[in-house]
Amino acid sequence: MTGRHLLPLLLCLLPLAACPDMADQKRPDMAEPEPVLRGPTSSLPVPGTVARGERSAWDVLKDRPEMTPALLERGRERFNIYCAPCHGVAGHGSGLIVERGFPAPPSFHNDRLRDATPGHFLSVIENGFGVMYPYGDRVRPADRWAVVAYIRALQLSQHAQVSELPEPLRERLP
Ligand code: HEC
Repeated sequence: MTGRHLLPLLLCLLPLAACPDMADQKRPDMAEPEPVLRGPTSSLPVPGTVARGERSAWDVLKDRPEMTPALLERGRERFNIYCAPCHGVAGHGSGLIVERGFPAPPSFHNDRLRDATPGHFLSVIENGFGVMYPYGDRVRPADRWAVVAYIRALQLSQHAQVSELPEPLRERLP
């Protein structure tokens, strides 16, 4: 190939060489210290601090949010990540970690926990309970409400009265 032909070819390839390698970009390593907060980049805000424009943890926790499909869906997602490994996907207390030897939690379907207040669940998530570790540093305040809403839905799912079902659903029962 002569130089006359090579030049246009090189000019065509030039923009390709200038393209950034998408797989090799600068991004924070989640475990790396964050320069301003000096904790891991993945850590939640320092306790007691509130980001501008955000509500404080207390403001979020003191008001029970409206039960909506979106809240339940968020709760289902968070529950399955953070709670189901021990409590099981339906809350009977027989998750995978328990099958491998971790102490079994009580079922959410006993009378005591069916009657427990939302505040009790919020407190267990934040502070832990007995041998259960606290989850307050992993489950944000608004998500704690979502998890509690989902636990309530699980409790109802295992303890519903036929008479409480809407007519069309009741008709489908044998
Ligand atoms: C690593 C396992 C594990 C995970 C994960 C876990 N728990 Fe627990 N949980 C337990 C154990 C074990 C107990 C029983 C503790 C005891 O009685 O000493 C318990 C107890 C509880 C109780 C009952 C407290 C009572 O009054 O008896 C609630 C409510 C609860 N957990 C909620 C949650 C929620 C919500 C999550 C997720 C955010 C969660 N747990 C994640 C192991 C776990």
